[in-house]
Amino acid sequence: MKPFRTPLCEELGLEVPIFAFSKAPAVVAAVSRAGGMGVLGAVAYTVDQLREALDFIDANVDGKPYGVDVVMPAKYVDGGAGHDKPLDPAKLEALISPRHRAFIEDLLARHEVPRLPEGENAWHNLLAWTEQTTRPQVDLALERPIKLLANALGPPPKDIVDRAHQKGVKVAALTGAPAHAKKHIENGVDIIVAQGTEAGGHCGEISTMVLVPEIVDAVGPDVPVLAAGGIGCGRQVAAALALGAQGAWTGSIWLTAAESDVTPLLKQKLLSAGSRDTVRSRALTGKPARQLKTGWSQAWDDPDGPGALPMPLHWMATADATSRIFRYAGQPGNKAEELLTSPVGQIVGRMNHERPVAEIMRELARELEASIRRMSGS
Ligand SMILES: Cc1cc2nc3c(=O)[nH]c(=O)nc-3n(C[C@H](O)[C@H](O)[C@H](O)COP(=O)(O)O)c2cc1C
Repeated sequence: MKPFRTPLCEELGLEVPIFAFSKAPAVVAAVSRAGGMGVLGAVAYTVDQLREALDFIDANVDGKPYGVDVVMPAKYVDGGAGHDKPLDPAKLEALISPRHRAFIEDLLARHEVPRLPEGENAWHNLLAWTEQTTRPQVDLALERPIKLLANALGPPPKDIVDRAHQKGVKVAALTGAPAHAKKHIENGVDIIVAQGTEAGGHCGEISTMVLVPEIVDAVGPDVPVLAAGGIGCGRQVAAALALGAQGAWTGSIWLTAAESDVTPLLKQKLLSAGSRDTVRSRALTGKPARQLKTGWSQAWDDPDGPGALPMPLHWMATADATSRIFRYAGQPGNKAEELLTSPVGQIVGRMNHERPVAEIMRELARELEASIRRMSGS
């Protein structure tokens, strides 16, 4: 057994203790083929798009293990994970204040971002980040040969955990606090992803270095914990193992992989950003998430502005604006590029070259092994 194959790797059939969250099916398949576990982020997908993405992965993963990640927040306006009352989009839309709508329009006008052409709709699924969207995604995912189902922003509802277990699928949940990790375990979750504040996407306030041992100690030796947040090289994977984690859960580093589906302009922004160029802000979804510091985050964080809306209203209110920014960024005659953003962690400072997933995986594994040898004096 290689020293870096942890018990969880053995159980899941992984060669290296590296888990990769990505919404790009090509990244997911490539990570799994390289011996890690690719986990497809489904939140932005409609069911049809998710089916297509899973078809691609199944056809390209060479039978290696992979997972799916969904988002079922424990609480949002008019609902929360485990509530089966259907959401009414019109009723939710009515809760978005005229002040917020005017603020968004003004921000786009100041950046001279045109409207979407007649007949073209925002590409957002307005009710992403709610169980209404997630349940059909889970139904679909559980029909596939997935090995892991992960959930962010709260424990997945008990019935979903039970269904996953019936299919032999392990359930993971992300958390930024030891007390939440304990609750996840009580709910039947198998694996805790301890996500520090350095991480891209939704995160708490505690750094990975402090959080991981706290969670390992809180949930006890029998529960596998993965360290997330700020991991971009093999030395950091080794550090995660040293902190008591059974693997590293990564996200940001895959955004600039050759196989990533990030637009070329955004990729360029990420490649040139430094580790100080991120901010933890409510600007993307209404909940604190680490992202590139841009005109978008600055506007929403401005104390004189209206501030972010609660979930899922923020996403609904900004769907049209985000689509316009992505559509027009880089085109002459507007400043949409200044607003172009993405969730990304502080590790963005090391993401300076576009490289294929296989190369990133080889380097992570090589440096991990070298670190372990160096520390053990062998
Ligand atoms: C672009 C992006 C989108 C993310 N979206 C989700 C998500 O939908 N669900 C989720 O569980 N985690 C999401 N995350 C968090 C990742 O799963 C992962 O925990 C995090 O990226 C780890 O920290 P790192 O960015 O420092 O590698 C996202 C991260 C990034 C960078």
